[in-house]
Amino acid sequence: MRDAQPQAIHLQDYRAPDYWLDATELEFDLHEDHTRVDSRLTFRRNSAAAADAPLLLNGQGLELLSIHLNGTLLDAQDYQLDEESLTITTVPAEFVLEVSVRIDPAANTALEGLYRSGGMYCTQCEAEGFRRITYYPDRPDVMSVFTTHINADAEQYPVLLSNGNKVADTTEGGRRRVTWHDPHKKPAYLFALVAGDLLVKEDQFTTMSGRNVTLQIFVEPRNIDKTEYALDALKRSMRWDEEVYGREYDLDIFMIVAVDDFNMGAMENKGLNIFNSSCVLANPATATDTAYQRIEAIVAHEYFHNWSGNRVTCRDWFQLSLKEGFTVFRDACFSADMHSATVKRIEDANIMRTVQFAEDSGPMAHPVQPDSFIEISNFYTVTIYEKGAEVVGMLHKILGKEGFRKGTDLYFERHDGQAVTIHDFVQALQDANKVDLTLFKRWYKQAGTPVVQVESHYDATAQQLHLTLRQHCPDTPGQSNKLPMWIPVQLGLIGSNGDDLPVQVSPANAWTEASQVLHLTESEQTFVFSGLAEEPRLSLLRDFSAPVKVDFEQSDEDLLFLLQHDSDGFNRWDAGQRLMLRWIDRARAGRFRLAAAEQQALSALLADTQLDPAMVAYLLNLPSEAYIAEFSAVIDPLAIHSARRQVQQALAVALASDFAACYQRLHSTAPYQPQPAAMAARSLKNLALSYWVKSSAEGMEQARRQYQQADNMTDQMAALVALVNSGERVQAEALLADFWQRWQHDPLVVNQWLAVQAGSAEFGTVEQVQALLQHEAFDWRNPNKVRSVLGAFANQSLVNFHRADGAGYDLLTDAVLKLNDSNPQIAARLLTPLTRWQRLVPAAGQVMKARLQRIKEHGSLSKDVYEVVSKSLI
Ligand code: ARG
Ligand code: ZN
Repeated sequence: MRDAQPQAIHLQDYRAPDYWLDATELEFDLHEDHTRVDSRLTFRRNSAAAADAPLLLNGQGLELLSIHLNGTLLDAQDYQLDEESLTITTVPAEFVLEVSVRIDPAANTALEGLYRSGGMYCTQCEAEGFRRITYYPDRPDVMSVFTTHINADAEQYPVLLSNGNKVADTTEGGRRRVTWHDPHKKPAYLFALVAGDLLVKEDQFTTMSGRNVTLQIFVEPRNIDKTEYALDALKRSMRWDEEVYGREYDLDIFMIVAVDDFNMGAMENKGLNIFNSSCVLANPATATDTAYQRIEAIVAHEYFHNWSGNRVTCRDWFQLSLKEGFTVFRDACFSADMHSATVKRIEDANIMRTVQFAEDSGPMAHPVQPDSFIEISNFYTVTIYEKGAEVVGMLHKILGKEGFRKGTDLYFERHDGQAVTIHDFVQALQDANKVDLTLFKRWYKQAGTPVVQVESHYDATAQQLHLTLRQHCPDTPGQSNKLPMWIPVQLGLIGSNGDDLPVQVSPANAWTEASQVLHLTESEQTFVFSGLAEEPRLSLLRDFSAPVKVDFEQSDEDLLFLLQHDSDGFNRWDAGQRLMLRWIDRARAGRFRLAAAEQQALSALLADTQLDPAMVAYLLNLPSEAYIAEFSAVIDPLAIHSARRQVQQALAVALASDFAACYQRLHSTAPYQPQPAAMAARSLKNLALSYWVKSSAEGMEQARRQYQQADNMTDQMAALVALVNSGERVQAEALLADFWQRWQHDPLVVNQWLAVQAGSAEFGTVEQVQALLQHEAFDWRNPNKVRSVLGAFANQSLVNFHRADGAGYDLLTDAVLKLNDSNPQIAARLLTPLTRWQRLVPAAGQVMKARLQRIKEHGSLSKDVYEVVSKSLI
């Protein structure tokens, strides 16, 4: 909270720190009503700094008890203290500073710094949480060796953890004192501390050089039967990083702790990852396949950070995508290797097209390397993470698998132990491959989604195809007249028999044969393909080879052909989605009819036992409302909803027997296994069920049976969702009530139950969501509950959120203002749907804007919420 207007911080103002910090020694004394933190910091002046440079430390919400400089107590004239910092005017070139503060973790509802979650203490220091623990140079380019002593009641907190290795453990007078030492230098954002009454599940891993590593997952006792899968995923991640990147783990112990109250998914603290319990705990009865896959991906993500983030870290927070974009790319490749690469690509493109493209065309649009921010927490975005990963993926396509590996080897070798920039990353890839990536770097600097316009012309006499590609990137806040980007366009030319034709293209240097990529680097280029005896069908942007929009007129027949025959699974899906968007458009205009050829094609896909069922499930899945919205010039949520419903119903009826047959073929009574093939089969089976319930009583009956008989949450939840969305209200209500009865004791399952209701058109009305907020299961202090109810409502239950009288917007506005005081990070994030007001039909857009205004006029806004509303109202 503040009085003056928060100021933006700019990348161009970056200056190296005046003082380095060689050693950090911390003593925590945990008590029920407060915690005392004593620090002993060994500083050394940076040779580049002036001799009289003052020492600047960050600090927020701390009660300062004392400061000693080289053993001498300082008094108030020796330093300046304000809301956010402590400045010591005069310090020698080398000195030891000892600072004592008092904090109140139990009152910390922002969940940054040291806080209580249930009966335990834990920390979240990224990005700037450490300054809520003690006064400190809280910036990632200040790296230090940490020694941490934790004192606490021995009985109440038998588990006391911090980074590195445990080096001492004593108990005296009922107080336990444990000391941890982390030999690796690290910035404060990677510090972690945990104290609690936890159980541990343990395993071992032998690294490629033969070292033995102890793996531990700490959980509250009731969750001890939910740790197996994360441990398994951890071991697979460790092996994968050795095999694919040559990266070995570097401590003797690797710990994961699950906590219930957590703002984000998880955190890669050195040797001591802390996880939102929803991103690590699973057993078959309580977690869906989707949750299993999310856990696998996040465990891998945090583990991979040990190299891409911890060993090599960020110089400043403008470089956040250096670690996040790269690490998301790494975890995406891991997931692709564990399951289906095509399906993973479809999922990622879906997120890009719905969430990231929306961000990139809205008021919060920012480059992958932003040039300014007010509150860094607002920049943990799909642009930094997912678009950042896409940009790394393009580098992978451009350099090829081996060239990319040479580049990352050089990057890790050159920068191990350093805090570096995105430029350093690209430079290493460039130096290892002797290519010029100057032009490519525009991807990091320019916001917005480029549009590639395509024109093709076949010349039968010359047996040539002329392909003209034009690119332009729309203006975004603070950026106009953008320069052309280097866009790798993976493509194929398909003959009438469905086979790929050989590509001979001029200019030849625009084509990379190994990756089948055409390099578009100018605002307009024409490429000539020769030796084509027939006019080929074009398959463009295969594998979603660049995060761009493609504007290319292809006939319904062409799209249907691609859906059936493209050798690139991603483009089969993409062609199907483009076709379905047309159906939905036609349904809006009251003239949708499923053509016989289309029906046959879908029916054949459902019956095709050679294809990966997980891919078929995506091929048959209609684009979500959010996806349709993003492909609409002006967003009309009601029209989108009813048109999509019509098409869904038409498919359900036309393909009723195909869905039933597909369901019966795949339904299995074998015990649940969280294995890729079984997951894939369940995804198609449950997709079939979701349609089947819409066409027949038999389908409904089967869904009810599946709900009752399932031995696993995937099938139980899928049946529940199918019934909730079937329109059979009475039955759905009965099952929702039954589900609560069965699962009220398990908060992670209850979260799913809340989200199913709040995110549905039927059960997510404003009144029902208000009731959920009053339900005993709800808790404003728990971010997972807030996301399950309010997040699901505003992002998925679009017809209700955008209700014409503005009641949906009011509901969200009130929630944002409430959370603004207790948890600003979550408040700002919840606000996102309102920031899209300019894309909505004007009647709705104006009401949304008025709500943003109301928030802006509210008295004391956090930096987080202030930044989002003020930028959205420009
Ligand atoms: N670095 C974490 C990750 O792996 C995210 C932590 C973000 N925390 C925050 N308070 N913004 O993605
Ligand atoms: Zn990360």
